Amino acid sequence: MSALPEKVGIVEVGPRDGLQNEKQFVSTAIKVELIDRLQAAGIKHIETTSFVSPKWVPQMADNAAVMANITRRDDVVYSVLVPNMKGYEAALPTGPTEIEVFGSASEAFSRKNINCSIAESIERFAPVVAAAREADIQVRGAISCALGCPYEGEIAPDKVAYVARLMKDIGVQHVGIADTIGVGTPREARAAVEAALSVYDVADVSGHFHDTYGQALANIHAVLALGIRQFDASVAGLGGCPYAKGATGNVATEDVVYMLHGLGIETGIDLDALVDAGAFISEAIGRRNGSKVANAILARRAG
Ligand code: HMG
Ligand code: MG
Repeated sequence: MSALPEKVGIVEVGPRDGLQNEKQFVSTAIKVELIDRLQAAGIKHIETTSFVSPKWVPQMADNAAVMANITRRDDVVYSVLVPNMKGYEAALPTGPTEIEVFGSASEAFSRKNINCSIAESIERFAPVVAAAREADIQVRGAISCALGCPYEGEIAPDKVAYVARLMKDIGVQHVGIADTIGVGTPREARAAVEAALSVYDVADVSGHFHDTYGQALANIHAVLALGIRQFDASVAGLGGCPYAKGATGNVATEDVVYMLHGLGIETGIDLDALVDAGAFISEAIGRRNGSKVANAILARRAG
């Protein structure tokens, strides 16, 4: 067990993972304002949109318009999801600083989510990763269902290590260990992260924990002790995955930031401004704010 880190990086995934599952189309202007507000709160890494089939995920159909209308900052990483060469070719002219390929530790989820096997997904990612690295674009990879699968149930850590190895071999620089359906407890979180650490350096592994069963903060705390220093989170706890029924949003960014600051860990994020960004998007899409911390702070402000 290593000591807790002094600093932790947050990847804000609300604009992509958070909004992708919204049934009502969220206007490009609202998405752009959300991203601008997140940057103003000190977020330095944003999953901005995805370049996937608009038939599969209509909410992300305005990907190029979102990328064209955000106010770029030099110190912010703008990450976009790309499943294949077609997505990469559409993403490239929009100027992402990072692309993310997304595979799965579960064969069944791979088929449901991206319509191919794990092996086929790696074949599709390989030219994308090569082209991005050639263009000096950072590449990260997500490993979905690393702590459990809605179709296959338990996932052996060996499957996580296997996919991490395949990703490393094609040149993916960083992997995010994803609990897509938020079922894992600290035991599974540690096992999956340790599996990834058998392939990647500790600085190149992050946690992406959905909070469906309320385990995400505990999982983050557990893997902080393994030295993990980067986590994905979604403002106001927005989100879910269209191909994982019942899965709720990622752990709320406000809740993660509150916990990290309480542990004396720097994030560079202004919690009050972040709460404002979460309140803005919750109101704009007519959803209850999914962050406990945000609701507490908003109630304190009100009264
Ligand atoms: P496919 O049907 O196997 O692909 O879909 P295809 O190559 O046979 O093409 C079929 C049609 O899609 C064609 O159009 C292509 O042009 C088009 P048509 O001729 O029928 O008009 N197409 C595309 N259009 C736009 N952009 C593209 C693209 N590729 C093909 N990139 C595909 C394969 C991956 C495209 C499809 O399955 C898809 O889009 N799936 C959506 C996946 C997705 O976005 N899932 C949610 C994000 S992942 C996630 O949330 C998990 C994560 O958060 C981590 C975690 O929590 O686990 C990252
Ligand atoms: Mg996710």
